[in-house]
Amino acid sequence: MSGVLLFLWLANIGFACAQINGYKDQPLSQIAIHKATFALRDSASIRARPSIIGTKGEDTDLVTVILNNSEPSVDDWIGVFTPANFNSSSCPPSEDQKGEQPFVCSSPVKFKYANYSNSDYTNTGKATLRFQLINQRSDFSFALFSGGFSNPKVLSISNFISFANPKAPVYPRLAQGKSWDEMTVTWTSGYNIEEAVPFIEWGLKGESRTRSPAGTLTFERSSMCGAPARTVGWRDPGFIHTSFLKDLWPNSVYVYRMGHRLVSGSYVWSKFYSFKSSPYPGQDSLQRVIVFGDMGKAERDGSNDYSDYQPGSLNTTDQLIKDLKNYDIVFHIGDISYADGYISQWDQFTSQVEAISSTKPYMIASGNHERDWPNSGSYYDGQDSGGECGVLAETMYYVPAENRAKFWYSTDYGMFRFCIADSEHDWREGSEQYKFIEKCLASVDRRKQPWLIFAAHRVLGYSSDFWYAQTDYEEPMGRESLEKLWQKYKVDIAFFGHTHNYERSCPIYQKQCTSIEKSHYSGTVNGTIHILY
Ligand SMILES: *[C@@H]1O[C@H](CO)[C@@H](O)[C@H](O)[C@H]1NC(C)=O
Ligand SMILES: *[C@@H]1O[C@H](CO)[C@@H](O)[C@H](O)[C@H]1NC(C)=O
Ligand SMILES: *[C@@H]1O[C@H](CO)[C@@H](O)[C@H](O)[C@H]1NC(C)=O
Ligand SMILES: *[C@@H]1O[C@H](CO)[C@@H](O)[C@H](O)[C@H]1NC(C)=O
Ligand SMILES: *[C@@H]1O[C@H](CO)[C@@H](O)[C@H](O)[C@H]1NC(C)=O
Ligand SMILES: [Fe+2]
Repeated sequence: MSGVLLFLWLANIGFACAQINGYKDQPLSQIAIHKATFALRDSASIRARPSIIGTKGEDTDLVTVILNNSEPSVDDWIGVFTPANFNSSSCPPSEDQKGEQPFVCSSPVKFKYANYSNSDYTNTGKATLRFQLINQRSDFSFALFSGGFSNPKVLSISNFISFANPKAPVYPRLAQGKSWDEMTVTWTSGYNIEEAVPFIEWGLKGESRTRSPAGTLTFERSSMCGAPARTVGWRDPGFIHTSFLKDLWPNSVYVYRMGHRLVSGSYVWSKFYSFKSSPYPGQDSLQRVIVFGDMGKAERDGSNDYSDYQPGSLNTTDQLIKDLKNYDIVFHIGDISYADGYISQWDQFTSQVEAISSTKPYMIASGNHERDWPNSGSYYDGQDSGGECGVLAETMYYVPAENRAKFWYSTDYGMFRFCIADSEHDWREGSEQYKFIEKCLASVDRRKQPWLIFAAHRVLGYSSDFWYAQTDYEEPMGRESLEKLWQKYKVDIAFFGHTHNYERSCPIYQKQCTSIEKSHYSGTVNGTIHILY
């Protein structure tokens, strides 16, 4: 096992406590937007500039917003809306808005208090704020509200602003394909298949490039399982394309860019990106893996309470970007964006991690915040997905699963075999997933791939944390069912997220440490080490 390094990461420490001692909600859910009314008045104005952004092809840009309100109050706030026309003339009423015209179609993508950069606003009614926007396939407007978040009233709506090409291909995310020599690229655009043909142009660095086609997915409001995803959290997801780059040479640097050939015959291109292809399974070389869970997103411009909801998210993202040269593949094992039914937030998340996911395979697992919804087939009946019931995670990211609605898969990386389980679907003995897990664990040649890794979002193994070890948060049947597989097939490490606290166990089997060693292991450990985030 020489030359193999395992890097671990922890994200979002501190949130777990919030989750248990009074769960902290998605910031957008603080706003009772379904109750919003229009109270437009001439003595309040809001302006935004410049009107065209991203003129050099950027997919993010800064906008300045200027307020002038003759009757300011302390809880005035600004919402950023996209599409820019957000009144009921442009959308069907959702379940809780029937009959009250005009209403606001959807939640803003983000918000700030009017006093955010000028505490004098309450006296003067004047303020200048900056917002960082990302390209989300549509135009934007800014609205000034009074009445705080619980009783919002629209006082004024800004001029509309737009990215130079709102439909541009953006936010590439790599994932390993079904075999080791295949890389997949998934991205988002505003081009449907009638309008343009999506593809990846790619090749070995410095050599000629070829083109590979891409498949296109999207989904409708009606595929959401409930509110807010089906109501004020709904936003058109655009088109999600995946291309399969096959027959890759091992350990080689490839360059690629996304392209769309328009019906007119002209092309729209993204910028160039690059990645290093995977090692041949069993290849003995330095292979570095990052595993973490529960990251979420935050707004760099301070919107939405800045880092209050996911305090570690930008820190972790920035550290991962700084360290890009020091690892080869990433596993984000569930609780990805915490969009919780506010669909727009998946764009923000894929934008936030673009610098990572565009150059390293970014492998995800499914967590409660992606999947759980009552009567939707999830093993747990919680409402943590905010009505997304897995549709967003399954569409926005590729995983090499037989069926992406069942989020379990196997993937090889050099000396590693990863068996990624889906803690939100039944894993018990006899279940379809159990059979898959056994097959994944049993089918690896340990002489070539000594590292056998199991990962899932919820703690299906051991935790010393009171909440996850001794209360209803525990998933004891998980351990009972799976532990015999881990032992039989000598799984080295089992990773879990969900707890937001770092823990590493001794090699353990049936609640007993099987080794007194605490830090240096060699050969096969009799028992499985459990690592939690
Ligand atoms: C602010 O609005 C008032 C009217 O409500 C107007 O008299 C004044 O010129 C405006 N100031 C600015 C800087 O636009
Ligand atoms: C801005 O307004 C919010 C909401 O009313 C308030 O909690 C906060 O203290 C204000 N900040 C400043 C600097 O005045
Ligand atoms: C709603 O939008 C339509 C179309 O832009 C516009 O004509 C109408 O005045 C708007 N209504 C309100 C209350 O803003
Ligand atoms: C995370 O980033 C924020 C904002 O840059 C900073 O204030 C905070 O100290 C960082 N936290 C850690 C643990 O590094
Ligand atoms: C491994 O651990 C099990 C359970 O503690 C024990 O019965 C078995 O003898 C151990 N095997 C080795 C080779 O140490
Ligand atoms: Fe979780």
